Amino acid sequence: MLITTGFNFIRLARLYSITYMKKILSIFGTRPEAIKMAPVIKELERHPDSFETRVCITAQHREMLDQVIAIFNITPHYDLNIMQPNQDLFDISSRVLLKIREVLKDFQPDLVLVHGDTTTSSMAALAAFYHQIPVGHVEAGLRTGNIYSPFPEEMNRKMTSALTTLHFSPTQNACQNLILENINPKRIFITGNTVIDALLIASKKISQDKELENKITFELDKLFKDGVQSILSSNFILITGHRRENFGAGFVQICEAIKELACKYPNNHFIYPVHLNPNVQGPVYSLLGNMANVHLISPLSYLPFIYLLERCYFVLTDSGGIQEEAPSFGKPVLVMRETTERPEAVDAGTVRLVGTDKTKIVLESIRLMDDSKYYNSLATAHNPYGEGKAAERIVTVLLQINFKELK
Ligand code: UD1
Ligand code: UDP
Repeated sequence: MLITTGFNFIRLARLYSITYMKKILSIFGTRPEAIKMAPVIKELERHPDSFETRVCITAQHREMLDQVIAIFNITPHYDLNIMQPNQDLFDISSRVLLKIREVLKDFQPDLVLVHGDTTTSSMAALAAFYHQIPVGHVEAGLRTGNIYSPFPEEMNRKMTSALTTLHFSPTQNACQNLILENINPKRIFITGNTVIDALLIASKKISQDKELENKITFELDKLFKDGVQSILSSNFILITGHRRENFGAGFVQICEAIKELACKYPNNHFIYPVHLNPNVQGPVYSLLGNMANVHLISPLSYLPFIYLLERCYFVLTDSGGIQEEAPSFGKPVLVMRETTERPEAVDAGTVRLVGTDKTKIVLESIRLMDDSKYYNSLATAHNPYGEGKAAERIVTVLLQINFKELK
């Protein structure tokens, strides 16, 4: 294991010398992968003398992905455009695998970079392996220990680790998980999480550009009947949800809980950008569609979402990425899942696991709403996922390492 700070970097630099252009292909397909890979892609682009870089999007997501690549100004070289309405895991896996075969043949990269735990990531890693191309895995080593929770992400990330040569772990804990699976410690690099790089880029962009902030509030204004100002000046609750293991009964419980909270707190707003998955849209719109203080809106573009995250009272979510972002803003998060692969956020105090049991979601939310002492004990800004230098660390490793020795 190499912790990528000063001394180790110098050691790396001495060990390896680089005299050739390294061909790197970054592959991703969903909204969170795009957000977390964007800082890495931008950092790679800063070294045109060392890297020939290309970006391949599978477009496992379409609209939600396009929103992100537009914000970060990423122009993909390959767009596999695989998304189908209500796709299942077989659809995604087979379409990604087959279409990436051609991309790899065309570009013949020295390294494929993938991110996290989606089916795009694991299938891209498998495709690279079939071509005997080494894989670099960003956000490596997260584990719940339960292959059905989150489903199928826990298995996706385990498969990806088995196919990976360079593991970029966000935290010491993630690194330990890999070591326990007998991954060579020399191939693990602790870098922090690139989600923080993206978050800092985004919040700096907004805070330094009044025109951009006005544009964001103008866009948000259109989404709410009485405008966004009345929402921003109140204690509003931000909600997201999309996990496959929560489909069906889980989502019904989640919606029932939100309904009960919205009735109990008629003066508070509940803002819910609803994921485009039909398995989410169905129950959410049918169970929550008629509540005056529950605002069901389309998925927000990244900057407006971050703008609301920074200003909300607390978050109800089953999202992975939001568990990592919210501690930076000191926003309490109730995670509507039975397990988390992000124990650092729980240890930091901002994140609490509440599962999908209606009563538990309601009781924990009431506690946050009514007990200010309790609220304050959770609302502590702390950042267990790094200080926004993860992409730089990853690229420094890629600069220094001799790719010819990777196989
Ligand atoms: C996927 C990932 C999940 C990740 C999540 C982030 C897998 C198996 N799942 O789940 O790990 O946490 O993305 O959000 O890799 N849809 C659209 N437009 C979009 C996006 C989705 O219409 O831009 C609809 C389509 O009907 C699509 C469906 O949502 O078929 C499901 O998308 P999919 O990527 O399979 O699942 P997610 O729940 O988004
Ligand atoms: N996000 C967004 N718009 C939204 C909801 C979330 O841009 O309406 C961002 C959020 O800031 C985070 C990421 O999307 O960075 C999380 O994506 P998601 O919850 O879909 O996936 P997960 O992180 O659970 O894999």
